[in-house]
Amino acid sequence: MRLATRTFIVFVVLKSSLPPISTKFAQEELSFDSCTPPQLALNGSETEVGENRIRKDYTHVREVKFSGSIGPLGEQRLCKIKCIAGQWVGPLCIDQQDNGRFQPLFRNCKLEYINPHLIVNFRNVTLHSPGWTFPHGAKLHTRCTELGLYKLLGTATPQCQNGAWSSRLPSCVPTTLLTNFTEDSPPTILIKIPSGSASVEPGGELAVYPGTTLHFECLFSRRIGSPDWTWTSPLGQYLTGWAIAAEERDTKYRLSIYYAKSQDSGTFTCATPRGITNSITLHVAAIHCEPVSVSGMHISVSVGGTRLGNTAKFQCPVGFKISGEPTLTCQASGKWSAPVPKCELVKCPPLDSAEGLEEPHLQIEEHNNSYGGRSIFSCAWGYKLLGPPGIECELSGNWSGPLPKCVPIQCQPPVLPLNGHLIQSEAPGMDGGRYAVGSLVQFACTGAHHLEGEASIICTETGFWSHPPPFCRPRCSYIGEPENGLISPTKFAYDPGDELKIICNTGFETTVESNLKCLPDGKWSSGLPACTNITYI
Ligand SMILES: *[C@@H]1O[C@H](CO)[C@@H](O)[C@H](O)[C@H]1NC(C)=O
Ligand SMILES: *[C@@H]1O[C@H](CO)[C@@H](O)[C@H](O)[C@H]1NC(C)=O
Ligand SMILES: *[C@@H]1O[C@H](CO)[C@@H](O)[C@H](O)[C@H]1NC(C)=O
Ligand SMILES: *[C@@H]1O[C@H](CO)[C@@H](O)[C@H](O)[C@H]1NC(C)=O
Ligand SMILES: *[C@@H]1O[C@H](CO)[C@@H](O)[C@H](O)[C@H]1NC(C)=O
Ligand SMILES: *[C@@H]1O[C@H](CO)[C@@H](O)[C@H](O)[C@H]1NC(C)=O
Repeated sequence: MRLATRTFIVFVVLKSSLPPISTKFAQEELSFDSCTPPQLALNGSETEVGENRIRKDYTHVREVKFSGSIGPLGEQRLCKIKCIAGQWVGPLCIDQQDNGRFQPLFRNCKLEYINPHLIVNFRNVTLHSPGWTFPHGAKLHTRCTELGLYKLLGTATPQCQNGAWSSRLPSCVPTTLLTNFTEDSPPTILIKIPSGSASVEPGGELAVYPGTTLHFECLFSRRIGSPDWTWTSPLGQYLTGWAIAAEERDTKYRLSIYYAKSQDSGTFTCATPRGITNSITLHVAAIHCEPVSVSGMHISVSVGGTRLGNTAKFQCPVGFKISGEPTLTCQASGKWSAPVPKCELVKCPPLDSAEGLEEPHLQIEEHNNSYGGRSIFSCAWGYKLLGPPGIECELSGNWSGPLPKCVPIQCQPPVLPLNGHLIQSEAPGMDGGRYAVGSLVQFACTGAHHLEGEASIICTETGFWSHPPPFCRPRCSYIGEPENGLISPTKFAYDPGDELKIICNTGFETTVESNLKCLPDGKWSSGLPACTNITYI
């Protein structure tokens, strides 16, 4: 028994395997039936708030009405769920096309795959990729690319029927021109329009303006036999036969329509001797489109006319690119085949994105991604650029080259002095015999050699060492003093060529005649002589 009816606004989404339904308002009828609260979610997320917003107690609710947005295009429909014997049933939605009665909501269909060369349209929108979901009753319109070059095999308009397509999505079979005139392939039909205007319609028909002259050329190998043209226009009388020109006479079986009239509308079929067919559907109509109105600042247009089949070609000035279709055709619907395009400034992909440059050590000094602009780079400390330091944004919208790279600056291993060695054999930052910026190396000389120059050098940002490596000069070391004598001069070390005088105390003398000499190899010409007591001698 019904007690009352109340209305209040909620925004909920019903959770179900059926198409997503988001509700705009709900109307409730209270009853004595008792159902647990239905599974509800607020704008897609199952929050407690969502449930609270509606009501906590469903004990007396018999029916919940809500506005559902259904299918990929979000069609608005009034829907309801009902509490029957303690269970929510539905949703049922009103279909305007069906006398406004509540009907069970049928399941969606998914478009899993689009066959090659097939163009799929839904409500005059071309679907370029599969994966879309369609509501029950949705009808797809399909055709093959390049009218006459492929033959559509299957039903051109599959319809979604409660989760399944009424027929498999059609496929496109290549015709004789693509199969080298194989006898079992459908014949290619080439369309030649010497005068007049024509448009290939979204549904795959050929629409022409009255007065147009056309030739349909059925391609078949004359050696094998003659194809045959048939047509559905009851009054039509058309000239058919093999082409006359030498290069065409063995392959082209023609049908010509001069000054097409609306009575010529119909389907023209070419059948091979084996009965394999291909068809063109012709629609002759005196249609005019609205003149093209161009509002953009930069765009220029050349319009061939506003008759069916006439085209409008758009151009942008240098530095701009067309966004949209550059050529529009007046179609049988009286509409241009696409919206008027716009001119957009040519821009190259921005390089200063949030995620930054891929190259971790690369830095942007200047960034202008407009056509003609440039980007300049540098590297972090210790790294240098490999490649040009800047790139330009070209007319194509591409940068003039790849991003430069940053490679670590390294010094070549230092030249070891003769008779010298490194104290550190492996400096930090050393990589395959090379030294990173900041590496310090220290030298030492062997034996009697003395270091001349810098004992330690550092790898600088230029990729060169701070100083040239030192030399290890051979030197004679201090030899000591004889007992009862002196040497002169007294030095820590002596250069090759230096002489050493031995001066004995009074009453003593050396047995050696000459001074000691520091030899080029850092050795003394002789050992330290002794000073001996003269009287002793
Ligand atoms: C739910 O979505 C509707 C329509 O988009 C919006 O007006 C409303 O504010 C949303 N509610 C919440 C709680 O997000
Ligand atoms: C699609 O275009 C045809 C004419 O080409 C027109 O009659 C029809 O109304 C259009 N359909 C939709 C859903 O826009
Ligand atoms: C058609 O014939 C040409 C030359 O004989 C050959 O190169 C080509 O592969 C053939 N194409 C097909 C689809 O058979
Ligand atoms: C970017 O480069 C273009 C072309 O050289 C120039 O016209 C424009 O002023 C530059 N933009 C900036 C922000 O520097
Ligand atoms: C621009 O770059 C893209 C992607 O690298 C390439 O496919 C395209 O051919 C380039 N355009 C021109 C005009 O060089
Ligand atoms: C040198 O030798 C003599 C004889 O042995 C000794 O008498 C004299 O004192 C010595 N002279 C010195 C300076 O030692």
